[in-house]
Formats: sequence, C-alpha cells, structure tokens
Amino acid sequence: MISPSDGRIPESRGQGKSSCDAVFLVSIRRSHTRSPAIHPHRPRCMKRRSLGPTAPDIFPIGYGGMSLSEKGRPPEAEAIKTIHAVLDAGIELLELSNVYNDNDDDIGHNERLFAKALKSWPGASDRVIVATKGGRWRYRRRWLIDARPEQLRRACERSLSALGVERIDLYQLNHPDPNVPFAESMGTLADLKSEGKIRWVGISNADLDQIRVASSIAGIESVQNRLNPFSRLALKRDEVPYCAKLGIGFLAYQIYGGRHARRIGMHPLLKRIGKRHGTSPYSITVAWLLAKSDNVIPLVGARTIGHVRDALRGASIELTSEEVKAIDAARFPKWPLHQRIRRKLAG
Ligand SMILES: NC(=O)c1ccc[n+]([C@@H]2O[C@H](COP(=O)([O-])OP(=O)(O)OC[C@H]3O[C@@H](n4cnc5c(N)ncnc54)[C@H](OP(=O)(O)O)[C@@H]3O)[C@@H](O)[C@H]2O)c1
Repeated sequence: MISPSDGRIPESRGQGKSSCDAVFLVSIRRSHTRSPAIHPHRPRCMKRRSLGPTAPDIFPIGYGGMSLSEKGRPPEAEAIKTIHAVLDAGIELLELSNVYNDNDDDIGHNERLFAKALKSWPGASDRVIVATKGGRWRYRRRWLIDARPEQLRRACERSLSALGVERIDLYQLNHPDPNVPFAESMGTLADLKSEGKIRWVGISNADLDQIRVASSIAGIESVQNRLNPFSRLALKRDEVPYCAKLGIGFLAYQIYGGRHARRIGMHPLLKRIGKRHGTSPYSITVAWLLAKSDNVIPLVGARTIGHVRDALRGASIELTSEEVKAIDAARFPKWPLHQRIRRKLAG
C-alpha cells in the first residue's frame, strides 16, 4: 500500500512523456522487483487514469474483491493466487469492503484476505492502492445502512486493524444513510482524514447533490456508482461529467450488470463488435466504459483470472465513435424475452 511519505507515482504525470511511456516505464521498473515471468498477459499500452484531484494516476482498471469473500467464495489459497495474478497483471487499485463476507462471524474477511495476499506478493506493493468502505452493515446476510458518525469511526478502526495498516489509502462512504444528515457522515470522514487514519476520501451510491456536498466537506477523490450497459443512470444524471469537471475519478461498479452478467456474453451487438476486434463482448463493455469519459475507472469483479484478463484486453481496444454510438443506442434488456412476457402478464 502507498506509504505515508510517497503518495505519488512519479512516472504518472506528464513530464514530456506520453501515458504509454509512463506505463512502459512502470513495467520496466517493476520487472526488477518481481519474479521473471512478469505481465505475460498485460497489453502493451494502457493509458493511465487519474484516481482523483490529489491521488496519483493509476492503471485504468481496478479490481473489485467482493466475490472472493461472499457466499460461494473460493478456498483461501486459490483466492490469494487470483489476487497475485491481478497484481501481476498491473492492476493497482483494489476495491474492498469491511462487510464482504459469508456470515456474521466473518466481518472483515475481505480486508484480512487482501492484506494477507499483499504481504506474500513479491511485487512492489507500495504502488497498490487499497480502497475500502464503511457505512453498511450485515445482519444474517441482509445489507443494512448505518453511517452514523460513531458507527463510521468504529468501522474505520476495524478496517485499519483488519488491513494491518496505520492509514487506509482510500476510505469510501458505502452508502448515504437516509437516517443521518449526509453532512454528518462526510464530516466524520473529513475528521478521520485530518487525524491521519485515512489518506483519501471517496463516496459510493451518491447522487449529484451528495457529490457536491461531499466534495465541499471532505475533498473527495472518487465516486463509486453503478455503471454498465443495462444501468446508465450515472451518465443520464450527469454524475460522470460532473466528476470529470472536478477531476474526481469515477469508479464504475457492476460493469457487467452484476447478476445479469451472463447477458453481456449473449448480446448480439457486443458479440459482433467483439468479433471485429478479435475479443469478447466483456472486453468490449470495458472499452465502451473507458470511452465514456477519461475519468471512468471500471472495477472488474471476477473470481477467475481469465475473466480479469478479458477485462484488461478491453483497456487496449479503441472503439470507433460509430461503435460507441451503436452501443449507446442499443437496447440491453436484463431479462430474456419469455421472462419479460411472463412478468408483464403477472402485472
Ligand atoms: N459500492 C457498492 O455499493 C458496490 C455494490 C456492488 C458491487 N460493488 C463492486 O463492484 C465489484 C463487481 O461487482 P459484481 O461482481 O456484483 O458485478 P459484475 O462485475 O457486473 O459481474 C461479475 C460477474 O461477471 C462474471 N464475469 C466477469 N468477467 C467475465 C467474462 N470475461 N466472461 C464471463 N463472465 C465474466 C463474473 O464471473 P466470475 O466471478 O466467475 O469470474 C461474475 O459472475 C465488486 O467486487 C465490488 O467491488 C460495489
């Protein structure tokens, strides 16, 4: 994780070099600190993206670690192998939560797992940004919201201990709490930042007004909202362009539609464009998200490393403006036709 003294990745900002040069330099530098078989699947040129106004430029795709801790998660050794492969592929942003877990005895599983994986990874872990969240709770597998100041503080302390760090790189409010004034939740994160417990502040599941308020109270780096071909509210409600204007990174979550992910693989237009570029509909989805705005950083959530690599391929594909427009205009029904008819008939 980024140490208190070095917030920046020196090659990331201009200095007369193109972004591709910057990526190349990072690969070379890292190659001296890692095992010889580095980045076998890493595309040659990926433009880095800014995580936020004061955070560094990073690899353009982040990894969402939810499925490695939730029900149906892989055995620990396998999960650690996946995390190592993700890091070997060059991904620098790991997105976690204090409450990604299988049952109530398991709170913090996600953070402990990634802390363990980072410890045993031979690469340059000081370049990895670990993001986690507070403000939600789990009870009997149900998701609850609790962003009261005292609860946020407690959650942050627990995350510090689960991650085994003195400061969390990026701490995000998981969800605004309808029972707590938003300014109070954000004020707590601002306090935690000034106390040195968190380095950067982010928010998630926030609308335009909340982004504005959060930005003025806590100086946020990132906004993490849902964005995928099925759900484009973040574009319709101008959250993406607003963040871009302020230099705030937009972390797109559930990029394949979460439980509808299978339908990405079946979409005729994505399949056709994928064929043209010699890749899968999933890579094309990533390329489409990246084409939406320079501040979008898609979070790939996958248990299988082959699926992570598929997403990485998307970062080196440049879609034509006609292809982007065609995906913009295409319909993305979440359910197959027969289910839609059945739902309609059922009222
Ligand atoms: N802030 C929030 O409130 C919030 C809420 C939900 C999620 N998130 C974040 O978003 C991340 C991802 O969310 P998600 O997992 O629900 O949704 P998702 O990324 O839309 O979908 C993940 C599903 O897609 C499958 N997949 C991925 N790549 C594929 C490929 N190339 N071919 C076929 N299938 C592929 C995965 O399979 P495998 O697992 O088998 O590889 C998994 O079943 C989470 O880890 C979390 O970090 C945040």
